[in-house]
Amino acid sequence: MTAATRTGRWYPIAVSSPSLARDALRVLAVISNKGGVGKTTVATNLAIFLRALDEDLPILVLSTDDQRIVDRMFGVAGAPPGRNLAAGWAQGRLDEVIQPGQYGVDWVPSTGDLAALRGSAESPSALRECLEATARGGLVIVDTKSDLERLTVCALHAADCVIAPVADHASLLEVEKLLSLAPHPGRVRVLQTLVDRRTRISPSGPLLARALHDEIARRGWRRFDVEISRSPRLELLNSESDRPRSVLHDARGTAVHREFRRLAAETMRALGAGEAAAPRRPAPEARGAAEGEERDLLTWFRTRYDASSR
Ligand SMILES: Nc1ncnc2c1ncn2[C@@H]1O[C@H](COP(=O)(O)OP(=O)(O)O)[C@@H](O)[C@H]1O
Ligand SMILES: [Mg+2]
Repeated sequence: MTAATRTGRWYPIAVSSPSLARDALRVLAVISNKGGVGKTTVATNLAIFLRALDEDLPILVLSTDDQRIVDRMFGVAGAPPGRNLAAGWAQGRLDEVIQPGQYGVDWVPSTGDLAALRGSAESPSALRECLEATARGGLVIVDTKSDLERLTVCALHAADCVIAPVADHASLLEVEKLLSLAPHPGRVRVLQTLVDRRTRISPSGPLLARALHDEIARRGWRRFDVEISRSPRLELLNSESDRPRSVLHDARGTAVHREFRRLAAETMRALGAGEAAAPRRPAPEARGAAEGEERDLLTWFRTRYDASSR
C-alpha cells in the first residue's frame, strides 16, 4: 500500500519524533538478572511501538531465552523446522532464519536448546558479529533470560543501548552487577517497571517507586524519565490466551499505553536518533496531542498491517 492510498488521518508519528537511519544497525537489549521484572513485556511491546513510530525502520526481535514468548507474540504461522536462533547463530548470520511477523515486526524463532546456542557464544562479541554479518540494517531488539550468563553477556556486548528494568530493591541491586559487566556502562539505562504508586515501603513510609527512584538518582545511574506502571490490563493481555496481545492495539486509553509511547520516543533518542527532518503528516490540531497521537498511531497501524487487525 502506498502513502497515497492511506486515509487522510494517516500519520505514523508526532511531528518532532526522532528517527534512526534505516541502513545502520542498532541493537537494543533488555537485561536483568532478576526474573519477572517485565523484560519480555518491554522488549516485545516496545518493538511494536517503535515500528509504529517509524514505519520505515526495520525491526527485528529475538530472544536468548527459551520461553518462546516472542514466537507466540509475533509468529503468524509456526516457525519452519530448524530455522531458529541456534541454527542462524551457528551459521554466523541470521538471514535464513528471520521471519516476517505480526505487527510488521520481524522475528527469529527462539530455540529450546540453549546448550547449542551457548556453543555459538564463546566470545562476548559473537552476537554483534553475527548481527553485523546479517544483511539488514535497522533495529534489533534482544530479549534475554533472567541471568548474566554467556548469552546475556553477548547481548550486553552487542547492544548500543541496554534497558535495565528495575521493579524492586532486588532488581535494583542487580543493575550494579550488570554495570560491572558492561563494556560501555554509559549505554545502560534503568527503566522502572511494574510501578504501583500506592505501595509503600512500610505503612507510614515512603512510596516504593519513589524510594527506588531516589536510590537510582543517588547512584548516578542513567535512567529513562518514563516509568511503566503495574497495569492489570497489561497482565490480562499477557495471560488471556496463548498469544500475548499488544499494548498498542489492546490497551488504548490506559496509562501504560501512554508510557510505552513515551518509552519508544526516549528509546529512539537513547539510540542516537536525531529529530525527524520534516513531518510526514500534520498532527491533529483539534484534539489533545496525546489522545490524537494514540488514536492515529493505531489507525495507521491497522491500515498498514491488515494481518494484525481485529
Ligand atoms: N507493567 C506491567 N503490569 C502488570 N503486569 C506486568 C507488567 N509487565 C509485566 N507484567 C507481568 O509480569 C510477569 C513478568 O513479566 P515478563 O515480561 O515476562 O518479565 P521477565 O521477562 O523479566 O521475566 C508477566 O506475568 C507479565 O504479564
Ligand atoms: Mg522474559
